[in-house]
Amino acid sequence: MPYTKISQAAHYVPKQVVTNDDLTTILETTDQWISSRTGIKERRISQNEETSDLAIKVAEKLLKKSNYSAQELDFIILATISSDSTMPSTAAKVQGAIGASKAFAFDLSAACSGFVYALAMGDKLISSGLYQKGLIIGAEILSKQLDWTDRTTAVLFGDGAGGVLIEASDQPHFLAESLSTDGTKAQCLTSGISGLSSPFSESTDSDPYIKMDGRAIFDFAIRDVSKNISDLIKESGLDKETIDYLFLHQANKRILDKMAKKIGLSREKFLENMMTYGNTSAASIPILLSESVQKGQIRLDGSQTVLLSGFGGGLTWGSLIVKI
Ligand code: ACO
Repeated sequence: MPYTKISQAAHYVPKQVVTNDDLTTILETTDQWISSRTGIKERRISQNEETSDLAIKVAEKLLKKSNYSAQELDFIILATISSDSTMPSTAAKVQGAIGASKAFAFDLSAACSGFVYALAMGDKLISSGLYQKGLIIGAEILSKQLDWTDRTTAVLFGDGAGGVLIEASDQPHFLAESLSTDGTKAQCLTSGISGLSSPFSESTDSDPYIKMDGRAIFDFAIRDVSKNISDLIKESGLDKETIDYLFLHQANKRILDKMAKKIGLSREKFLENMMTYGNTSAASIPILLSESVQKGQIRLDGSQTVLLSGFGGGLTWGSLIVKI
């Protein structure tokens, strides 16, 4: 049975930087409130690029780094909650734009767990032996789903995209996996609610904006996601100290502080970049991974062990332990 490895990482973010101070000109908020509660100092906001534009840039970078042609790709999975349209999928637009004529492409919706879910699915496709190469991308333009008069949500999110190229390998790299969903808590975090509107039914409310019960999400992350990570490490049989770095969804610095304590690993191993990008949902983990490769922290030579963990709307959460 073939195994899967991550062979390249890339990211792309819109040029426009919006600082916490910039937000004080449109919202009743302060840099002090935002940075002390979340760690976020600034975020990127798209001026004229759509989700597919960011994802196409990532796909092009991944192909350039790998020296593969687009025709060699077997699939593209794009994790997003801010697709350009319901139909076509954003993944289909990426496939068309880069000329990946042999690849099938689809979007995956699992909110801030989207990238981890998509990577886990990509691993299965390659392990099946039917496919050899694919792109796993997380891309979001969350700025279009924010109510810019609501300070409780508008300060938290940003736009961006990141991704990896995965391919078949003769060595095991994906060491452990755990994916979970709890739809009974779906109302804790919602966006893009489109109500019924046909002439043959009663119309129901629609609400395009992100709405969140911040406290409930905070508690869920600390309780359920920390446990998921600890259990996965235990099940993998690995000594937790052999994990070089943890790439957790970049929602909030305080969540990472508390998780590090609960899991019992050095806070230094929990990499972070929410300071510069805010919460970019499905894009947060691949952007962080790509930046770590750029800095030389991650070598992509199979010699390091990392844990990736996403958590968010659904509720969804999931973790992977990967040799990278
Ligand atoms: N600026 C200034 N004041 C604000 C702001 C703001 N941007 N937002 C809220 N406040 C005020 C509130 O109105 C409230 O005022 P009041 O006491 O007069 O009513 C006060 O600050 C406290 O509000 P809380 O919502 O109780 O603030 P809390 O300390 O819980 O922090 C936060 C809110 C940061 C969202 C926190 O709940 C949190 O970290 N939650 C985690 C959820 C998260 O990160 N979600 C991201 C998306 S989900 C995901 O990616 C997993």
